[in-house]
Amino acid sequence: MTHETTQTGADEGIVAEVRKRYAEIAVTGSGCCAPAPTASAGCCGGSASAGIAKEVGYSSNDLAGVPAEADLGLGCGAPIGHLALQPGETVVDLGSGPGLDALLASKQVGRSGRVVGVDMTTEMLERARATANKAGASNVEFRQGRLERLPVESASADAVTSNCVINLVPDKAAVFAEVARVLKPGGRAVVSDIVLNRPLPESVAKDVFAWCGCVAGASDRKEYLAMIEAAGLGQIEVLKDEDYLASLVKVAPEQADAMLAGWGVTREDLAGSVHSITWRAVKR
Ligand SMILES: C[S@@+](CC[C@H](N)C(=O)[O-])C[C@H]1O[C@@H](n2cnc3c(N)ncnc32)[C@H](O)[C@@H]1O
Repeated sequence: MTHETTQTGADEGIVAEVRKRYAEIAVTGSGCCAPAPTASAGCCGGSASAGIAKEVGYSSNDLAGVPAEADLGLGCGAPIGHLALQPGETVVDLGSGPGLDALLASKQVGRSGRVVGVDMTTEMLERARATANKAGASNVEFRQGRLERLPVESASADAVTSNCVINLVPDKAAVFAEVARVLKPGGRAVVSDIVLNRPLPESVAKDVFAWCGCVAGASDRKEYLAMIEAAGLGQIEVLKDEDYLASLVKVAPEQADAMLAGWGVTREDLAGSVHSITWRAVKR
């Protein structure tokens, strides 16, 4: 086997793990960030979900305006608030999960606009479609597909968003290339995601639970921003930059400590390393 084949095989193994764990979250409403019986928090959802959504930037108004089923506490920012969507626009949400950002976007683009949510996990799509139905959001469509090969026409979107998903994808360069492909010239992307300020301890970097928990798959910040630029996106700005684990600890300290213990580390071991950023870029 060539190195490339081996790498691709390993990457697909990770994607399958991610799909399995997010299927479980879609059905049970809670998570997977550490081996049982430790509790979960953060990207993998759980009982603290409403607290997490507010902590990462959603307003009470936002949350009150959509069915509660759309919020599983899986985001690490509130990117929609920075997109300045206009009535009639088309927006694509990458890794739409239970549909929170898609439903908020649906109100902003109105009946003449369109929202396309893309997710690979059947159970998430079922949850999102049922929730959109309950909300009466007829301008939203959820499509099954991979971020690395979006089921979306080229140059068809005014805006792209994504919340805490790209870190989960092994081939991030492919995702950024797809963002550039589907945006119209001059279209914008606003994405919340996780990046690393320094390398993770080996026990975390190799832990599949930490990957599914939106930490071990994160890229080095400089490499991540360079990949966005290489894909053909410009005017890159970081709009928000926060210590992700500190946010989790603030909302659910016991769950966060249990999750870290499951990865073989303490808060101090990761302090300042794992940041949630919200970035904006424009298709050149
Ligand atoms: C952490 S959740 C975030 C969900 C949503 N954006 C939110 O904030 O509630 C990650 C989602 O991305 C999806 N996902 C992960 N990797 C993907 C990939 N390579 N292609 C498509 N969807 C993916 C998962 O199925 C899951 O629904």
